[in-house]
Amino acid sequence: MDDTHTESVVARGLGFPRADGVTSPGLGWPMLESMSATLTPSVAAVSRETLDDEAPPIVDGPSPDLGTVGHVSRETNGAASSAGPTTSNRTTDDSEERAAIAASIPGADAHTPLAQAVAEDARKRITLSGRSVPRPARTRVLTVANQKGGVGKTTTTVNVAGALAQAGSTVLVVDLDPQGNASTALGIDHHSEVPSVYDVLVDGVEIEDVVQPCPDIPNLVCAPATIDLAGAEIELVSLVARETRLQKAIAGYVERRTAAGERLDYVLVDCPPSLGLLTVNAFVAASEVFIPIQCEYYALEGLSQLLKNIELIRSHLNPALHVSTILLTMHDARTRLSAQVADEVRSHFGRETLRATVPRSVRISEAPSHGQTVMTYDPNSSGALCYLEAAVELAERGAPETEDNR
Ligand SMILES: Nc1ncnc2c1ncn2[C@@H]1O[C@H](COP(=O)(O)OP(=O)(O)O)[C@@H](O)[C@H]1O
Ligand SMILES: [Mg+2]
Repeated sequence: MDDTHTESVVARGLGFPRADGVTSPGLGWPMLESMSATLTPSVAAVSRETLDDEAPPIVDGPSPDLGTVGHVSRETNGAASSAGPTTSNRTTDDSEERAAIAASIPGADAHTPLAQAVAEDARKRITLSGRSVPRPARTRVLTVANQKGGVGKTTTTVNVAGALAQAGSTVLVVDLDPQGNASTALGIDHHSEVPSVYDVLVDGVEIEDVVQPCPDIPNLVCAPATIDLAGAEIELVSLVARETRLQKAIAGYVERRTAAGERLDYVLVDCPPSLGLLTVNAFVAASEVFIPIQCEYYALEGLSQLLKNIELIRSHLNPALHVSTILLTMHDARTRLSAQVADEVRSHFGRETLRATVPRSVRISEAPSHGQTVMTYDPNSSGALCYLEAAVELAERGAPETEDNR
């Protein structure tokens, strides 16, 4: 990677003014503050139950080299990508043997949290590296939504997409947030002249004319967002079939790829933090909603509003829409609050919530400034392993009703 590339990616990732003078709004994107939290349950009354998914205390910094799960790093990308999907070894089912090896790793007592974390990561690495990841029967379209900002929507979209693609699935990421954070994290050019999702929604351009391949991960393409998309929310209002434009575009693209023998397994749509027309388009295009929930006190505020909107879309525009997946993000096993939020979410959404939780991790947050997902930036870090775990679970949960190809 040459210096110029690093510089431009870092600048965009941090929300600095771009070369064309447009300032990316960064983390200050407006939220719909008025959204009430009528159903917000109290977390105070919840007692801490056994958390079989409890993450180890977070270890950050370069992770110890305890073997590889077969990921492609930027350095090894050339060689690995020419050899096809890096995870072809996943199809060999030696999971019992791996489970035995994982179980033989000595435990560490609670007084040595660092050793505990390293042992836990090693166990995950061994277990996950041999797991075969099933491809869905038909293309699964998931909208990653939560009208709160900063809860990990973009981080979840790009890392789950990266993990699925590394596991051999074919994935499209649709960046529907004018900030273009998902495009940045996937190393995709998204300055204002680049053909983007704006052209798809407003001008009816086909998705294949705007997608770009992710430079680090084979099988992963992204339809980027440019700052123009900020205007689309207003421009869409006066257009015909304003709520179904993304659905038609995705359905057409999926169909054409299938006809060409390049079937897509997953489409992940990264939503902006609002419930406007862009998000409505995403809800109409998908059959599954994937909600990342941050393990913080206000996590459940606004969730009721989100669920009401999903219900409205389901009854008027898209009967197939349902919340299929919830992922707890920025979990800190050292705090009682994280455990309480996790318990609370699981008590309401036991079936939808993934067992895997994503820890708060510096490696996850610094990956986008290198134009990468954590899956390639530091594949052995605990953050990458947890996203891989979440992706495997999501793939294995490809229940019949969630395989509805729209
Ligand atoms: N597990 C995590 N650990 C540490 N930082 C995280 C984690 N997940 C997300 N972040 C950081 O939190 C911020 C908001 O995350 P992001 O995915 O952009 O949220 P959203 O898309 O919901 O607005 C970003 O700076 C991101 O790097
Ligand atoms: Mg985002």
